[in-house]
Amino acid sequence: MRCLIILALALLALEAVLAQDSYLLLSEQALCSDISSSEEEMACLKSCNTNENCQGDTKCCLSACGFSCKTPINVPKAGRCPWVPAHISPNSCEEKDSCSWDGECTGVMKCCEDRCGMTCMTPILGVWSHLLGVYIPATPAIMAARLVKRCTCLLREAAHLAPAPAPAASPVGWLRITRAAHKTLTSSATSPSSHFRGSLTELVEKEPMFTPYPEPQEVDRLIEKATRPEQLLELLGRDHHLYPNHAALILIHLSRLLSKKPEDKTSLIQDARFQQLLHLVNSQLSLIWHGTLVKLLRSLYKLALPEGSKELQSVEQEVRWRLRRLKYKHLAFLAEFCTASMQEQHSQDLLAELLVHLERRWTEIEDGRMVVAIMTKAGHLSESLMNRLEDKCLELVEQFGPDELRKVLVTLAAQSRRSVPLLRAVSYHLVQKPFPLTKHVLLDLAYAYGKLSFQQTQVSQRLATDLLPLVPSLTPSEVARCVKSFAFLKWLNLPLFEALAQHVLNRAQDIALPQLCNVLLAFACLNFRPQQEDQFFSLVHERLGPKLAGLKPALQVDLVWALCVLQHVQEAELRAILHPDFHAQLLGGKSQKDQITFQKLLHINATAQLERPEYTGPLLPASALSLRSPALDTKVTPLQKELQGTLKGLLGSTDQGSFEVATQYGWVLDAEVLLDADSQFLPLRSFVAPHLIQPAGDKPLPPGAKRLAFLRWEFPSFTSRSKDLLGRFVLARRHMLAAGFLVVDVPYYEWLELKSEWQKGAYLKDKMRKAVAEELAK
Ligand SMILES: *[C@@H]1O[C@H](CO)[C@@H](O)[C@H](O)[C@H]1NC(C)=O
Repeated sequence: MRCLIILALALLALEAVLAQDSYLLLSEQALCSDISSSEEEMACLKSCNTNENCQGDTKCCLSACGFSCKTPINVPKAGRCPWVPAHISPNSCEEKDSCSWDGECTGVMKCCEDRCGMTCMTPILGVWSHLLGVYIPATPAIMAARLVKRCTCLLREAAHLAPAPAPAASPVGWLRITRAAHKTLTSSATSPSSHFRGSLTELVEKEPMFTPYPEPQEVDRLIEKATRPEQLLELLGRDHHLYPNHAALILIHLSRLLSKKPEDKTSLIQDARFQQLLHLVNSQLSLIWHGTLVKLLRSLYKLALPEGSKELQSVEQEVRWRLRRLKYKHLAFLAEFCTASMQEQHSQDLLAELLVHLERRWTEIEDGRMVVAIMTKAGHLSESLMNRLEDKCLELVEQFGPDELRKVLVTLAAQSRRSVPLLRAVSYHLVQKPFPLTKHVLLDLAYAYGKLSFQQTQVSQRLATDLLPLVPSLTPSEVARCVKSFAFLKWLNLPLFEALAQHVLNRAQDIALPQLCNVLLAFACLNFRPQQEDQFFSLVHERLGPKLAGLKPALQVDLVWALCVLQHVQEAELRAILHPDFHAQLLGGKSQKDQITFQKLLHINATAQLERPEYTGPLLPASALSLRSPALDTKVTPLQKELQGTLKGLLGSTDQGSFEVATQYGWVLDAEVLLDADSQFLPLRSFVAPHLIQPAGDKPLPPGAKRLAFLRWEFPSFTSRSKDLLGRFVLARRHMLAAGFLVVDVPYYEWLELKSEWQKGAYLKDKMRKAVAEELAK
């Protein structure tokens, strides 16, 4: 009677499992042949939504023009591939496939994975049950027998789970047990998709443990209760009968106990009893349950067995063979806790196969924590896995909490993957959900958005607003990181930046030079000068002064350049950079970074020359320019092209304007024109031009003549959502004014408003007129 109830329950549950066993039932798309061009026209004739819309043998497949009915080529044959227990052989065999799908095998044979590749094999008929963890052969008698056996285990498990140890004979106790059994069955049957929030370890732990020995024994309790390694090792001496599972559990528990005392590992490994345990496990690895096996692998990694340990290798091998049968959560566990060790141990084969299985069965990921854990720990190891994980994240992003959102973003940032759909989705949830974000989450988010330079106004706003009240609690390195992240984002939030600058001043004693340098560079990037300007910069000079010469040359240039941008550079700093001994080491570099450094040197030279009349030298010799490598790659932007076109139209003759003018100040003007006192264009090439790298003419400028520089400001030239130029462009503009130019600014937001060529011409003429008028009004 009892067993009948259980059997009935088991069958019900089995049905439920089989109905949704996605691993067993191949997805529809797998049945469909690849889209081939010859089929395209045919395919477009009939469309379908599901297989039911298709007649005969045809299936609803994706084709060039949507879903349509096609004759499938890749129908899997009935049955399951037999498990091939390969022998341990350290040298891997040559991979060779003699088939790739079932259709290539004769008769009922299926294309199966063999030790060294795919071959045709006679299948086992029957069904695999995830719930019961067994393969149920088609023969009813065997099936029933196996089910009953499993039921017994489940029942025992249920009895174990029941809170109060009720005597099995009492009716109340029975009810409880059957209920618990029912719960175990249905919950595992219906909720592989339930969203677990606990840790993965916990989950693996919670999995019902079917041990091959009859009942939880004394030993199990002793293992559980042990608090010292010695207690566990003693178990070997007594006359407990230890099964391989026990030995594995002891090893797992040992590694847990020793995680707090790493110094004891060596003596443990040398202990004869430990070796005996390893041996016991190793002798019957195949009897160890999946969940225990994966935990055992992790524990052996953590115990740091000597390199090339035989036992470790066979556990790895066993895991490798079982990869196909392991549940996805076990694969996820391996991904989360073992990938780093696999790399360290050079277990490349295992790692590679694990990644393949994780990827192949990615649809089995049901939950946010799992996808995030795999992504953070294994995403960087496989591009194609990462693609799948991103898709899965998109699907599950709605369930993510702040910590998951953070991990996804930081992982993307670490891999520089600017996956826009995912970034958008994450941003949406960050903005929409009112969950509180902690300091660390906020800082990580800012870092990730900055690193990926993904500007999302509402997110940036939220980050800045939420961070503001937390500023007093930030450590100096957090301040530096935060300021840097916002600089990457080009997001200048004044209240936040003021608070950060104030905080730096308040904690001036604690801030280290590198952190202060980062703050300075970020401020210069956004052209931010705090209200406590003098205090802030005296702190900078005080700290930087004695240390500047000891920093890396390129960093020295960056820092002095930043001070030039913010108009706080000191003569000593200019001298340090412009001294021949210093810059000699920087010239002639070919990398893009070297070129940027060289540009900055020119800007510093220009600052000394244009903005510091009292500066007495040294300066960068003009000869340095000849060492300059060809210009950085210059992609012509639409604004640049249109501006030139319109201006050329206005000028009429080509000798009345210059375009793409490279100046000795390190800036390139979009265009330059020369106007006489009556605002008529002059042919500028015959006149002296000290700003040019290679001056052409020698005639002095006629009285009242004015040089005009056209500078276009593209969208990326501004801080986010503003009409404030970034520090670099502010410096360019200032230099051109100081060099005696009238500057005609052409910002993208004005230019985009102009529709016709006529409007554009009128706009430029108007701008020139205004520049001249302003000059005259001075
Ligand atoms: C640096 O400035 C000086 C002074 O104007 C100038 O003569 C020199 O050519 C500049 N150096 C470079 C490399 O442009």
